[in-house]
Amino acid sequence: MSSGPGLGAKAFPPERVDESRRDRVRATRASARTRHNVSTAMRADRRNLAPIKYHARMWTLNPLRSPAADVALWRLDLDHATPWHIDYLQDLSDDEATRALRYVRPADRLRFVATRLSLRRLLGERLDRAPRVVAFEQGPHGKPALARSGLQFNVSHTGNHALIAISTGLPVGVDIEQIKPARDTISLADKIYARAEQAWLKAQHDEVAGFYTVWSCKEAVLKAWGCGIAGHMARLSVVPENDGQVTLTFDETPQLDTHAWLLPVPEGYSAALACGPARSPF
Ligand SMILES: CC(C)(COP(=O)(O)OP(=O)(O)OC[C@H]1O[C@@H](n2cnc3c(N)ncnc32)[C@H](O)[C@@H]1OP(=O)(O)O)[C@@H](O)C(=O)NCCC(=O)NCCS
Repeated sequence: MSSGPGLGAKAFPPERVDESRRDRVRATRASARTRHNVSTAMRADRRNLAPIKYHARMWTLNPLRSPAADVALWRLDLDHATPWHIDYLQDLSDDEATRALRYVRPADRLRFVATRLSLRRLLGERLDRAPRVVAFEQGPHGKPALARSGLQFNVSHTGNHALIAISTGLPVGVDIEQIKPARDTISLADKIYARAEQAWLKAQHDEVAGFYTVWSCKEAVLKAWGCGIAGHMARLSVVPENDGQVTLTFDETPQLDTHAWLLPVPEGYSAALACGPARSPF
C-alpha cells in the first residue's frame, strides 16, 4: 500500500508504528477517496456521457453509444506508460488480486485489473453495493456472471483498450481485437470462414481489417452464448449488412434470436457486440 497524506514519520514515529492500525487508516482513506471519485464520475457519466478519469490516469472509462436499447457500453483507454499503483488491488477479490499479481507482463496485468475494477464499479453502482462485494460466478465454459442478479455483462480487452457491456435484459457478448497484419490472415479465412463470410471479405478494400471484423463479430456472438470459441468458430457465420445489422447462421440455421452489431473503435482495432437469446443454445 502507498502512504496516504498525513501519514508520514512525524505522525507515526517508526519505532512506535501500529502497522495494522496504520493499514486500516490508509485503506479507509483510500477507499473514501475512491468512493468519492467514482460516484462523482458516475454522476457526470449519467448527465452527459463524459469520460471518467481514474486516479493516476492509467486508464479512462468512456461511455459509448450502444446500438442495443437495454445494453450500456464503455470503452477503456489504457495508458501503459503510467506507473502501476498497488491501491488498484484493494477493490478486487482476493482471487482477482492473486491473479493480477501473477501476470508477468505489466500490460497484461493492467488490462485485467483496469477492466475488472471498472466492471466492479459499474456493477456495484447499479446494484448499490461496494465494488469489492460484487459476487461473480462462472458458467460451464468460464463465462463470468453475477450471482443472483438479472444484470448480464461481458468484457473484452486487448492492446490499449477494453470494452465492457452491461445488459438489463438478454445475455450479452462483446469482443475487441487489435488488427495485426500477418501473411497468413487471408489463407486462415479461406480455411475457417464460411462461404458467405469469404464472399463478404473479398468485397472489402482492406481484407485484413475485414478478417478481424468478422472474427470480432463471431467471438462476440459466441461470448453472448457463453460457449467458448473452440469448435464453434467455423460453424457460425456472420455477414455484416449495409444497414449495420449482421446476418447470423449456425450450422447454416438462421439465428434470429441473437443480434450483433459492429462497434466503432479506434484505428487499428475492430469490435462487435452481440445479444441474446435468453437461453444459451449450448
Ligand atoms: C471466451 C474467450 C473466447 C475469450 O478469449 P479472448 O479473446 O482471449 O479474450 P477477451 O478479452 O475477448 O475476453 C476475455 C473475457 O471474456 C470473459 N469470458 C471468459 N470465458 C468466457 C466465455 N466462455 N464466454 C464469454 N465470456 C467469457 C471473461 O470476463 C474474460 O475476461 P477476464 O480474462 O478479464 O476474466 C476464450 O477465453 C474461450 O474460448 N474460453 C472458453 C474456454 C472453454 O471453453 N473452457 C472450458 C472450461 S471447462
